[in-house]
Amino acid sequence: MPSPDPSDKAGSPRDIAALTGALTLEEKAALTVGIDNWRTASFPRLGIPSVRTTDGPNGARGDTRSHSSITPSVCIPSATSLGATWDPAVVERASAIVARQAREKDCRVLLAPTVNLHRHPLWGRNFECFSEDPVLTGKLAVAYIGGVQDNDVVATIKHLVGNEVEHERNTCSSEIDERALRELYLLPFEYGVRIAGVLAVMTAYNRVNGRFVPDDARLLDGILRNEWGFAGFVMTDWCGIATTVDAATAGLDLEMPTPARAFGPALVDAVRSGELDETQLDKMVHRMLTVFDRVGALDDVPVDEHPEDREEDHAFVRRAAADGMVLLTNDGLLPFEASGLHRIAVVGPNADRLTIMGGGSALVTPHYLLSPLALLRERLGGATEVTYAPGVAGNGVADKESIEAAVKSVEGADAVVLIVGTDEVWESEGYDRESMELPRNQDELVRRVLSAHPRTVVVVNSGAPVTLDWAESAAAVIQTWFGGQELANAIIDVLLGESEPGGRLPTTLPMCIEHTPAFGSFPGESSHVRYSESLLVGYRWYETRRLPVRFAFGHGLSYTSFEIGAPRPSASKLQPGRSLSVEVPVTNIGQRRGAEVVQLYVAPPGGGRSRPDGRFRPVKELRAFAKVWLDPGETATVSLEVNERSFAYYDIADTDWPALRARMPASVFNHGREPSSLHRSQPGWYVDPGTYQLRIGRSSADITHVVEVEVTGDDSPLPSSLLPQ
Ligand code: BGC
Repeated sequence: MPSPDPSDKAGSPRDIAALTGALTLEEKAALTVGIDNWRTASFPRLGIPSVRTTDGPNGARGDTRSHSSITPSVCIPSATSLGATWDPAVVERASAIVARQAREKDCRVLLAPTVNLHRHPLWGRNFECFSEDPVLTGKLAVAYIGGVQDNDVVATIKHLVGNEVEHERNTCSSEIDERALRELYLLPFEYGVRIAGVLAVMTAYNRVNGRFVPDDARLLDGILRNEWGFAGFVMTDWCGIATTVDAATAGLDLEMPTPARAFGPALVDAVRSGELDETQLDKMVHRMLTVFDRVGALDDVPVDEHPEDREEDHAFVRRAAADGMVLLTNDGLLPFEASGLHRIAVVGPNADRLTIMGGGSALVTPHYLLSPLALLRERLGGATEVTYAPGVAGNGVADKESIEAAVKSVEGADAVVLIVGTDEVWESEGYDRESMELPRNQDELVRRVLSAHPRTVVVVNSGAPVTLDWAESAAAVIQTWFGGQELANAIIDVLLGESEPGGRLPTTLPMCIEHTPAFGSFPGESSHVRYSESLLVGYRWYETRRLPVRFAFGHGLSYTSFEIGAPRPSASKLQPGRSLSVEVPVTNIGQRRGAEVVQLYVAPPGGGRSRPDGRFRPVKELRAFAKVWLDPGETATVSLEVNERSFAYYDIADTDWPALRARMPASVFNHGREPSSLHRSQPGWYVDPGTYQLRIGRSSADITHVVEVEVTGDDSPLPSSLLPQ
């Protein structure tokens, strides 16, 4: 599907060229900078209203200068929770709620989705991003953008690119090699632009390979606009700009927020002094007005914020939170048989005050907050006694709580629900986590409770991985993420078996921080963050390096069981220019309705080894997935599509090769082959011919079937029009 034309809208299209032409130089420049923290300039004489932007991924916060004292918002699950659903339909519906709420707050531009990758578990904003995998991230971003833009709100994909650390985020340079940039970090943006037709892009604060992104013509004008056909507008992250002419010529359109540092009046000066051609300013204004017109913003009249709290949203957000909940282990304790429970001991600081979202610009004021403890008491009625001991302080729990008291409270209980986790201060924007351990001595609390009571379910309420080195001693462990305003209800639904824990890990849970791919190069030093692991992010690293993990990417248990049947590929050979689908039957062989996620990974020949005659490839990479809900005994067939991009790598090419070769005596080359693929002159996506495996299963570590496919490939680059599947 080509990138949609932003001018292609229903409604009353304006003559944007004429509108741009009617603006004075000063007015055009004024449109390139915010007039306050969130809004663009208005020009009543031409009928151009102010357009209001709002954060952020898990809700529409609305017009505010601070992150507090704000009108309430529907708080949908944060991105790791949405990522764990592996379900584009859920993500699309969730983002549509945010878009609707944005409109209720008089906003037309939503500053979301965030599609940076989980490069390192301690990055402060992991909770705000979907996954460690660019294909899962990209496909969910497409769904998110669709839900927003179908509701006439501009989605802003952010932060382009290499924004995977908070430490010195305004100055650091992410040193990313070109293959990793193309194959991993740019890929979600490519999905967003080329498949979803996203209308706005936000640049990152950081530099990429030494150049600040707003000044980077190769990234903005080159890759984004010329290669991918992006037709929307590009804005800065808040205060993330320092140059005028460089940024304007690189392809940046809007500086946010006020006061202007580089655009606005400085652009007038640049045009007057001849440093910048006025036609460049015209293009910037034209792009912005075209997008505003596309969503109908040019016809808006200001309205007061009137956020609505709807029952139907409660029900959906509750289901979405359960759909993203990952049951990591279960020896049969769950779901609880409520009638057999006379006393439940609830323990842990997050049991009375859950964390439903992370901190920073993602913060919203939810319409309400729920306590799992109170809900459990309410829903179990008088039949089951529910006791509570926080165990440790924190998350609203007073400085006097003791682990001893908590351990004592579990004596004689029929089961223990231990809810531990982080909070929106621990996981936030602006700084990274210091440690992967649970804060405030909670790991000790967990160990002590687990040794005191064998029937304990540990509910982990964090937005990003925490160390779970006690997991094997627990009867059950659930990862809830930051699941939004209905998380408390969703937790009880899952404990009582009223909902399936439908999630699968969108990110690997490592054994320890020392095993992680970026250990040693995170958070960077001397203003440089070397992406030294290159292509080996997440499971690509653990599998290629043969390192054990605590829980593998894609893992998650169900309350029922499934059989994944023999896959049926539509062809055994993938010819150039063709795609291939694999039909996979899935049967629910258990007793309850539940969800399975079928995952397809492509394993290239010789993957994982550095070969003298080819390119280094990770052992395998996720290329397609499908989630299916089935009743007991029911079978459904899912279809997984791959095309040549699914098998390709990005070759940076070696234009120096002819000169280098000419320096050598011919005898140097006599002993070996000199395949042309080693030194191509044209950068691009290439596929090496060979027998590839399609590894199909229920996690990266649980592959149930392998299908071999002959890929013809040739030595020419894939057509630039070929979209990632
Ligand atoms: C964040 C952006 C956010 C912006 C506006 C910045 O600090 O990095 O993601 O949209 O603030 O709040």
